[in-house]
Amino acid sequence: MKIAVLPGDGIGTEIVAEAVRVLDALELDFEMETALVGGAAYDAHGHPLPEATLKLAKEADAVLFGAVGDWKYDTLERQFRPEQAILGLRKNLGLFANFRPAICYEQLVDASSLKPELIAGLDILIIRELTGDIYFGQPRGRRTAVDGHFPGAEEAFDTMRYSRPEVERIARVAFEAARKRSKRSKRVTSVDKANVLETFQFWKDIVTEVGKEYPDVALDHMYVDNAAMQLVKEPKKFDVVVTGNMFGDILSDEAAMLTGSIGMLPSASLNASSQGLYEPSHGSAPDIAGKGVANPLATILSAAMMLRFSLQQPEAADRIESAVKSVLASGLRTGDIWSEGTKRVGTREMGDAVVAALSSSVIKKTSITG
Ligand code: IPM
Ligand code: MG
Repeated sequence: MKIAVLPGDGIGTEIVAEAVRVLDALELDFEMETALVGGAAYDAHGHPLPEATLKLAKEADAVLFGAVGDWKYDTLERQFRPEQAILGLRKNLGLFANFRPAICYEQLVDASSLKPELIAGLDILIIRELTGDIYFGQPRGRRTAVDGHFPGAEEAFDTMRYSRPEVERIARVAFEAARKRSKRSKRVTSVDKANVLETFQFWKDIVTEVGKEYPDVALDHMYVDNAAMQLVKEPKKFDVVVTGNMFGDILSDEAAMLTGSIGMLPSASLNASSQGLYEPSHGSAPDIAGKGVANPLATILSAAMMLRFSLQQPEAADRIESAVKSVLASGLRTGDIWSEGTKRVGTREMGDAVVAALSSSVIKKTSITG
């Protein structure tokens, strides 16, 4: 098994370093190889996703990704901007299914800007389609308008589109995922804008058809504006949410923040053969980069998802997740989740604590098994 490690920019390098230490501490049999991506790759090789990095990612069983982007690249031509690296990886590896769980850890209920009773016990899963929609639709560009409100004026345009197989496969991923979630009544909420957009009426029709194959999973539909509102009003009403690329981008940030900190949330992007890219849901945070204060837990938890989904090591994944819970229970907090009465630590100390919690779980295990 091989893991491509792509730390990227900003806090990416700091948080990925901690996740790698946690993976090393598991002493499992896999190889890790690191490469540049994003602005760091642009600076070194003139491209955010160099051929060698793409090749490494394609050949690996899984990619552990940090974050890309920095304001200093905002004036570059679009094809050279750091964000193109993640879009290029999604496209080239066919990573169409993006899982963004939003789980509120018991110890962190007070870190949310919502009332604790609204989010205590929150456990929702956003499934975002990741390789279609207006993100990748062609044509796109700038031109002179021939019609519209200002014929003859300069205009820009993008194309929102989905094909039937694209919607069918992401719908199946959502229904299957809902089936595997044991603790709740199984429900998929499909989020669309069918009242206005042809693409999303099509989406809604297809999700409804696929839903008939899953009589054990309840299906409802919600317009995206209402979904944005319900997420802050009654977030616990949701179970699995499935939506298109752009709506998923927006709603997953909103859902992440319900839990108190986007610094806690992992994500997985999978293709049809379970090859996956694992990254924290947050970005490169250039404002705190290099200060050693970023929260590495989202990346560490992404490594756990990687072990579960792409590397067939569910026990190792459980160990990481329990270690994170015990570190939180011991009161350690990075700045983003800090509250009165807890101990503020930096990126490295948080990583150390997770590694220590892992080894204490090994000791317990060996003593049980003799
Ligand atoms: C995300 C990010 C990306 C996206 C950017 C960095 C291209 O916001 O993964 O949610 O829009 O998909
Ligand atoms: Mg986003």
